[in-house]
Amino acid sequence: MTTRITADRDFTLGEVPRRLFGSFVEHMGRCVYTGIYEPGHPEADERGFRKDVLALTKELGATVVRYPGGNFVSGYNWEDGVGPNRPRRLDGAWHSIETNAFGLHEFVDWARVADVEVMEAVNLGTRGVDAARELVEYANHPGGTELSDRRIANGAKDPFDIKLWCLGNELDGPWQIGHKTAAEYGRLALETAKAMRYVDDSLELVAVGSSNRAMPTFGAWEHEVLTHAYSEVDYISMHAYYQEHDGDATSFLASAVDMDRFIEEVVSTVDAVKAAGKHRKRVDISFDEWNVWYQRGLDSDDQPHQVSKGWQVHPRVIEDRYNVTDAVVVGTFLNSLLRHGDRVKIANQAQLVNVIAPIRSEENGPAWRQTIFWPFARTAELARGEILRLAVDTPVHDTAQHGDAPLIDAAATWDEEHGRLALFIANRSQEASEAVELQLRGLEGSRVTRAEVLTIPEGGDRFTANDLDAQDAVGLVPLRDVAIDGSKLSAQLPALSWAVIEIE
Ligand code: AHR
Repeated sequence: MTTRITADRDFTLGEVPRRLFGSFVEHMGRCVYTGIYEPGHPEADERGFRKDVLALTKELGATVVRYPGGNFVSGYNWEDGVGPNRPRRLDGAWHSIETNAFGLHEFVDWARVADVEVMEAVNLGTRGVDAARELVEYANHPGGTELSDRRIANGAKDPFDIKLWCLGNELDGPWQIGHKTAAEYGRLALETAKAMRYVDDSLELVAVGSSNRAMPTFGAWEHEVLTHAYSEVDYISMHAYYQEHDGDATSFLASAVDMDRFIEEVVSTVDAVKAAGKHRKRVDISFDEWNVWYQRGLDSDDQPHQVSKGWQVHPRVIEDRYNVTDAVVVGTFLNSLLRHGDRVKIANQAQLVNVIAPIRSEENGPAWRQTIFWPFARTAELARGEILRLAVDTPVHDTAQHGDAPLIDAAATWDEEHGRLALFIANRSQEASEAVELQLRGLEGSRVTRAEVLTIPEGGDRFTANDLDAQDAVGLVPLRDVAIDGSKLSAQLPALSWAVIEIE
């Protein structure tokens, strides 16, 4: 069978929100220490930033990076990470010792070098309104007050000018330090937002949504939180992690079907609160944690997790090793985010380095790209201009976990300025290649300028991954079977693949 896709350059959903290509740096495991920061490493600059990791971050194309957590932020005192005195503390969230050698100033400096926007989270677990507004004053006020002058004394004359702020993290989760009911959190989010805006009225604020779609309070949580805080927030967060269960790759490959539904359910809930509250402004979505995460390993010996043995400084935690299947799934997540780019305005893949990450690095050793690096890097590079509303006619198959799933998953963007269309496309079949025909309306006479595919490499299988000793086992290779004839593009997508085709 052939999958038929129609793209019309006039049928658009809206501009590609460039903040969809966000990432996340948490003080967790080896994301900060021996990830982005390792003084003494042969590749470290004078501030201790690893230049090899910086180069890969730029190549990845991340646009905005959330910091400093995650579960970590719910027990964090931001003051510990600024100034000359950096106390060593126990981090209860990940059962680690936090040295505080790296903090706000270092992150802002790193973000400038990496050319990414800072998305800062405040602690609404153990702390509240006062610490949040003080942090905004410290970071963003030009000077002439005790807090802003302290920033200047600590070496930053100019304000950090951080616009994007998360009002806590996963406070619906019983595991969270300072877990709250929706009513408790909704009130706290409202009051914290107000106080932060009194200091700086240019902020964009993200309220905490559900930690995942399976939370018993999902839906009710968003409704109640927004009933309290709608007028003061700009976004509600979503988090989702997926993994393969019991060898059911068919369901795993259809995870983006669940992501699509999850987004649409949150949008409906947000809009219901908007209607009931007679609000005029729109609240959008910040999907500020998403990825593949093999949580089955949480308590197993082969995959050390948060309850690491003893209290260690930057222990190895959840350093998932990603394979070909995971990369195809990540490609479909990016497609899902693009398809909902009219309401999902920010998204952060969790995390950037080592901890469930597209980039891996070894202490005093090299850094390399995991398989999931590739769909992210290419989508971030090429998804520009307007998101197109595609009509996709493709076979549908049943999956145990997510019901019906389309065989071909697609998203496309049209960059009017450069006259470029980019098609991002995945074949979920593990057995068969699929013929795809793309009908291009309003784009007759184009030529293919790029066609690349990530699939099972020769001699490999769907579990093939990039490792320290085989860093480039999986990557993008030319997609050979692509032809364009007038207004019709034809391609043959290999089984289990993610591809990008660019035409001009
Ligand atoms: O990204 C890892 C963890 O997953 C984050 O700290 C937390 O917010 C989520 O549960």
